[in-house]
Amino acid sequence: MSDEHYRLVGPDANSELELVQHKPTQGPNVLDVTKLYRRGGVFTYDPGFAATASCTSSITYIDGEQGLLLYRGYPIEQLAKSSTFIEVAYLLLYGELPTSDELEKFERSIRTHTMLNESFLRFFNGFHHDAHPMAMVSGVVASMSAFYHDTTDIHDAGHRDIFAHRIIAKIPTIAAAAYKHSLGQPFVYPQNDLDYCTNLLNMFFAVPPTTYEVDALSAEALDLLFILHADHEQNCSTSSVRMVGSSGSNPYSAIAAGISALWGPAHGGANEAVINMLEEIGSPSRLQQYIDRAKDRNDPFRLMGFGHRVYKSYDPRAMIIRKMCHRVLEQLGDKDAPIFELATRLEEIALRDEFFIEKNLYPNVDFYSGIIYQALGIPKSMFTVMFAIARCVGWVTHWREMVRDPESRIGRPRQLYRGPKQRDYLALDKRN
Ligand code: SDX
Repeated sequence: MSDEHYRLVGPDANSELELVQHKPTQGPNVLDVTKLYRRGGVFTYDPGFAATASCTSSITYIDGEQGLLLYRGYPIEQLAKSSTFIEVAYLLLYGELPTSDELEKFERSIRTHTMLNESFLRFFNGFHHDAHPMAMVSGVVASMSAFYHDTTDIHDAGHRDIFAHRIIAKIPTIAAAAYKHSLGQPFVYPQNDLDYCTNLLNMFFAVPPTTYEVDALSAEALDLLFILHADHEQNCSTSSVRMVGSSGSNPYSAIAAGISALWGPAHGGANEAVINMLEEIGSPSRLQQYIDRAKDRNDPFRLMGFGHRVYKSYDPRAMIIRKMCHRVLEQLGDKDAPIFELATRLEEIALRDEFFIEKNLYPNVDFYSGIIYQALGIPKSMFTVMFAIARCVGWVTHWREMVRDPESRIGRPRQLYRGPKQRDYLALDKRN
């Protein structure tokens, strides 16, 4: 891919600057500004990095205008239809779809790393029963650096693989322990003879006095949701993992940073916020007043589950989740579930409204996912934890790519300074 050049003309004639334009495999060209300050004496300004490429990556590609999402070149619709979460995890981590031997070996490694050191379980007793599960999960994942710090050399490929398999295998067990703690129920140990999602649901819902049979459609729906949430390029939480990891920090603490970033309602916390919003709206007769509030710039209310930094068309994941919603409610939940009716009515009205059309605001991945989680019996407080379990694969993959990237440096952005000019200290008795 040959680079082209971009001529930048500064304020006076002789401040012309030639910048390299990198050509990607797909997507817009990228202007290389690494020498801009040294040669041109200026910074770039891009709050929220909406137009800034923070790194070179080969993992996931999104075309927001076309509503295209590719994991290692494979369209999300094809993976959702034909793959499994464990196979997608292998694809993201290693860049290619596995052979049956590779898949069997990878799945066996994940299944045999699901147990937690018993000391982890004591951490949960330190939390109140009503602690938010995201707080518990981020705290316990961060504590993994206390257990594995001395055995993790981030420059050793074998250690990076062990870290990847260990965190992907254990995060469902940690999530289940947080859920059981919030219920005051005994912790259920992982079963190595169960697949990833069946094992997770068993750890969530099994109780000692009875035998528990995981419903096959629930496990299938969860596997699909995990595929759809596994990665999404340089989103807020993935960028947080890259930023923390760029200082060479323990990889478990970098993943904990990603969990913290995901928790925000503007990011992964939106799936919980969508259900809260729909429950607050309550009935179709109140929809219009909430849509009017979302359009009022003086009102901080936003339509949760709508809008996206990159997708300016329908989020392809939301389309797939919406279809699975129908199936799950048909079979598991109440097929005329009021909350699903309300969500589809809200979508219909919003997508006909000039404001949403003009601002390209469509349902995103979080709009329907919570309805499925609810139908599976998972409480709202656990929705973003489910997102974190899936996205852990993407975080680990991006962390590995960054650690191995020869161009990777410690993240350290500059700023547009608007504070006071230099001034001298004023003694206390001189201040009025
Ligand atoms: C995820 O980055 C990723 O890839 C994230 C994610 C992933 O897989 O990792 O896809 C997962 O986080 C999905 C997004 C979940 N969040 C929500 O659903 C929360 C509600 N959505 C908004 O907060 C918002 O749309 C964001 C945060 C998602 C995107 O915000 P941007 O890109 O900063 O867009 P913006 O805030 O500049 O909005 C542009 C305009 C603004 O109006 P003006 O200032 O131009 O007048 O659209 C308006 C906004 O006020 N707007 C909304 C809106 N979202 C944007 N107005 C009402 N309701 C909304 N939901």
